[in-house]
Amino acid sequence: MTTKEAIISILEENKGLYISGEDIGKNLNISRSAVSKVIKDLKKNGYLIESINKKGHCIPCKSNTISKIEIKKNLINNHEIIIKDSVKSTNLEAKSHLLDEYKHGSIIIANEQTNGRGRKGRVFYSPKDTGIYMSLILKPDLLLIHNPLKLTIATAVAVCNSIDTLCDVDTKIKWVNDIFLNNKKICGILTEANTDFETGSIEDIIIGIGLNFNTLNFPEEFSDIAGSIFSEKTTPINRNQLIAEIINNIMKLLKDLENPNILKFYKEKSFLLGKNISFYEKDKKIECTVLDINSEGNLVIKTKNGLKKILHSGEVNFNW
Ligand code: BTN
Repeated sequence: MTTKEAIISILEENKGLYISGEDIGKNLNISRSAVSKVIKDLKKNGYLIESINKKGHCIPCKSNTISKIEIKKNLINNHEIIIKDSVKSTNLEAKSHLLDEYKHGSIIIANEQTNGRGRKGRVFYSPKDTGIYMSLILKPDLLLIHNPLKLTIATAVAVCNSIDTLCDVDTKIKWVNDIFLNNKKICGILTEANTDFETGSIEDIIIGIGLNFNTLNFPEEFSDIAGSIFSEKTTPINRNQLIAEIINNIMKLLKDLENPNILKFYKEKSFLLGKNISFYEKDKKIECTVLDINSEGNLVIKTKNGLKKILHSGEVNFNW
């Protein structure tokens, strides 16, 4: 454990209490000024630490700071957790490491992404302190995945269920895995794979989840479509609780991706069923009605010309 991590750990274990620099120093066998220097650095990196002269340093109880200890408190399984203050993208971070470096179930979480990636090369706006940006790393040899779409669907169900349960809201799913609240997108999921170039086999699956927790202002290009779970700075639960709930739910559903209840819940939460939508086939806009989501998770649609089709992937819009 580095000195930085040791100091965070002492403050987190004593959340809400002021611990003097001297006591922290004694505990770690370093000087008080070394403690002050590290605390200054931590604050610069976005950690919410309050310091009062002659009293010491404290992580406030209400802090929404992402914390390994707080997440682990609510996790059912033992996961390796890597927390970064700022990265380009947690999915890129996961992909850029050696394939063996992270175990099945490792989670990379960032407090901010400077180049958060969405599907189809889009940007996922990921400002500091107000979102959940995380990548869960899975080793496919430890999972039974017959149909990758089922993994995507299970992730959407797990995220949706976690938000509804902890935040007391009623989210909806837009096929395949965008999550909406009050007609605004609050969460996007980007599932990627690390493949072995020589064998072509999938070594790791990276499930990237981006969630607007209490992002209050979005840049103009996102403001029409994007929303947040909470619209206030102070929130009834913190990000750590929701992160743990999402991971617990995903790991539970991964045990049996063929469980019919997953698709049942997904369909109940889908707001596309029966709706008129459009999608692009090559460059041609096709207008259609959604008839069903079949047992494989594909979208069953009927075009305006009465043709029935099955969509396996892609982007659909409500614009006609
Ligand atoms: C989408 O809406 O198209 C998907 C957005 C996925 C965003 C998450 S945030 C964590 C992970 N890292 C990324 O760069 N993207 C995913």
